[in-house]
Amino acid sequence: MKKITVEICTGTTCHVMGSEAIMEIRNMLSERYKESVEIKATSCLGFCRERQAGEAPFVKVNGRIVPEASLLKVTQMIDEIERGN
Ligand code: FES
Repeated sequence: MKKITVEICTGTTCHVMGSEAIMEIRNMLSERYKESVEIKATSCLGFCRERQAGEAPFVKVNGRIVPEASLLKVTQMIDEIERGN
């Protein structure tokens, strides 16, 4: 199984926009992902300045940006990468 890295921005903008709730993904991943998915909290990824702050919270999954991130969107991205897309 591929290694998948999920970086959840906990910078001020993303925090205000709800990134903390996304940290719950640790408890929500299915068993098959427990070994292969690494969850990291990061400081500001810079996207709140490069892109629109309204798109926060931002998460990176294996380098792919997930704007307006939610548990559902991040989980879908993990599934997509796992399927090889
Ligand atoms: S605070 Fe999240 S990208 Fe800047």
